[in-house]
Amino acid sequence: MDNQSQWKSSTGFILASAGSAIGLGAMWKFPYMAGIYGGGAFLIMFLLFTIIVGLPLLIMEFAVGKMGQTYTTRIYGKLTNKKWLNVIGWNGNLAVFILFGFYSVIGGWIIIYMVEVFQQLIGIKPPGLDHIKFEEVITDPALTIIGQGLFIFITMGIVMLGVEKGLEKASKIMMPLLFIFLIIIVAKSLTLEGAMSGLRYILEPRVKDISVKGTLFALGQSFFTLSLGTTGMITYASYASKEMTIKTSALSIVVMNIIVSLLAGLAIFPATEAFGFKPTDGPGLLFKVLPQVFNQMSLGSVFYFIFLILFLFAALTSSISLLELNVSNFTKNNNDHRKPVAIIASILVFLISIPATLSFGSLNGFRIFGLTLFDCMDFVVSNILMPLGALGTTLVVGQLLDKDALKVSFGKDRFNLFRPWYYLVKYILPLVIIIVFIMQLI
Ligand code: PFF
Repeated sequence: MDNQSQWKSSTGFILASAGSAIGLGAMWKFPYMAGIYGGGAFLIMFLLFTIIVGLPLLIMEFAVGKMGQTYTTRIYGKLTNKKWLNVIGWNGNLAVFILFGFYSVIGGWIIIYMVEVFQQLIGIKPPGLDHIKFEEVITDPALTIIGQGLFIFITMGIVMLGVEKGLEKASKIMMPLLFIFLIIIVAKSLTLEGAMSGLRYILEPRVKDISVKGTLFALGQSFFTLSLGTTGMITYASYASKEMTIKTSALSIVVMNIIVSLLAGLAIFPATEAFGFKPTDGPGLLFKVLPQVFNQMSLGSVFYFIFLILFLFAALTSSISLLELNVSNFTKNNNDHRKPVAIIASILVFLISIPATLSFGSLNGFRIFGLTLFDCMDFVVSNILMPLGALGTTLVVGQLLDKDALKVSFGKDRFNLFRPWYYLVKYILPLVIIIVFIMQLI
């Protein structure tokens, strides 16, 4: 029997899973991926994948968690009586482990930027935000390693103390605030010179710019932002009560994710040209462009500092779910071992995050198939492990689970959505994932 903790209300569940989903993926990764893979063309593919593939898969993961009510390296065996299928859970755990490794690099950048802006606010650094030099920050090994160490340490502290519930409550204020800040940044960006061409870049659906590579990365982006295929969402759903409504929860998370991704795109691209950056600038895009936008506002540094706090908060609610999954699996949901497991997992994540961070500096020349170590880790997770995990789960759900039991987990079905959802998961989505996967290998 598991010592399974439970949320008392479905609000707790929605807040936690929205917190897990909405993070660096929508705000940092979406604009940089869209910038590289054709702006509006990437956006169309991302929207299509998120709605047609992501939403049903998210409902599927919630259904599995709700039915299985246990940790994810056991849940597949428990539901199917085939223990070897727990390999899907282990695949997810591996994905999350590597993901946390490179996620913390970006979390570390946020912390470093906060310290830089704070120094400026108390007068140690000159006024304005021009003094923060992105290239200098990310290539400084000591600084970045300390930054990501702190990010992992804060995540570890929260998970060890089990104070996630407090954080979920705080997210009721922090998330709306983040929305408001994003809207303010969009408004400012749109008034800048050259804004219209940036706006066109991200919104114009230029079908001719859709590339095979862009399509693959758009699917990877949908998986990444919705935390799919890592079993992270299964873990959260397994903590939820049997009464929770999985369809509305999934829909609200998908909608919020799309809105935040769009706002991030609208905040960044109109400003990119105005300040002489290129959409293809890569992982540094947000960190280069936004300080310049805030620089144009009165009290810009103060607002930027508050924005960074909100951004860090969003990243932390995601990293917590990454560590939580490890803790849940390795303690088999037994809270007695929570602390040592959280500490050991964090130390291991810290160790693998070091080569990822150095790949922006001293290890930049070290490439695997032309990718830096950081990009390689991201590729392995977003384009291989996540789709594989989701594929495995669609096969389990479509081929092995009892349809009637699934229907119960699906919940009240006023609009008769169960059938189309079920056939999508059983026949179409596995095919889509396999096709995209094969295209990638070619
Ligand atoms: N969805 C998160 C983001 O977009 O930042 C990343 C993530 C969190 C992926 C948790 C997977 C996961 F289990």
